[in-house]
Amino acid sequence: MKKIGVLTSGGDSPGMNAAIRAVVRKAIYHDVEVYGIKYGYYGLVTGDIEPMGIGSVGDIIHRGGTMLNTARCEEFLTPEGREKGVEMLKEHGIEGVVVIGGDGSFRGAEKLAELGVPTIGVPGTIDNDIPFTDYTIGFDTALNTVIDAIDKIRDTATSHERTYVVEVMGRDAGDIALWSGLADGAETILIPEASYEMEQVVDRLKRGNERGKKHSIIVLAEGVGSGPEVGQRIQDETGFETRVTVLGHIQRGGSPSAYDRVLASRLGAKAVELLLDGESGHMVGIQNNQVTYAGISEALAQAHSIDKTMYELSNQLSI
Ligand code: F6P
Repeated sequence: MKKIGVLTSGGDSPGMNAAIRAVVRKAIYHDVEVYGIKYGYYGLVTGDIEPMGIGSVGDIIHRGGTMLNTARCEEFLTPEGREKGVEMLKEHGIEGVVVIGGDGSFRGAEKLAELGVPTIGVPGTIDNDIPFTDYTIGFDTALNTVIDAIDKIRDTATSHERTYVVEVMGRDAGDIALWSGLADGAETILIPEASYEMEQVVDRLKRGNERGKKHSIIVLAEGVGSGPEVGQRIQDETGFETRVTVLGHIQRGGSPSAYDRVLASRLGAKAVELLLDGESGHMVGIQNNQVTYAGISEALAQAHSIDKTMYELSNQLSI
């Protein structure tokens, strides 16, 4: 293999740049040329593809976002669009592709591999919802952004003796809410993977108040419901003054943490190694601090699950 392509797709995540850098430099180290495919699968279909050199990934390891840009591409969801993409790769002489992104991006990678293009997926999403990896690139940074915000909210919650609902990202996955809630001692954590009754939330808040608790933090994953609606219900049913903060896209930006930079470097390099070893249709991951790989199709077939013991622990510690 002498020429490979790299793209980032779907929602961006801090550390994607470090992963791109690792792919480019690892490939060049092995005398393989690298092409950057811009705007994810959109650039693949439209031929927005450019050569990348050692210098093109200089000064990006510490930057959030993705220098290759990202987009969602409807056309690539069609067989015709995918054929176009494969043709573009042939035109550029690209023999293998590294796809950095989340589950939607992995679906595209699976299709590329099925069409005979050697393809390896690198898990990059703040949601931490990809099986066969303990962490996805960007999760740690997003978590630290959330924690920084909740720490600040806690200060004002304490001063004003208020109840706070903090809505965090996670349309289908509760990892950001669970980890940040545990790390910040939230009174209640509401996630898509665990059903809840508003009655229980209200009871818990009232019991805490009776014991002298003057403020409370509820971390809500966006997939469970809207922060403002949940906040209003809590205020109506408890009578406690309640405020709501929706953290939104600040969770997706910022300089990647040391952990995410190292993870991205390790996973990006492994993806290139796999391509050079003739592998395809795999995703790389980190399990027990070892870089591993598994089938993309197997990963996509598995439903995301949270660590239930962590969820129980958060309930036990926030009594
Ligand atoms: O990156 C994943 C994610 O942050 C989800 O948690 C969220 O629901 C989604 O992306 C929102 O993405 P966008 O606003 O770019 O459509």
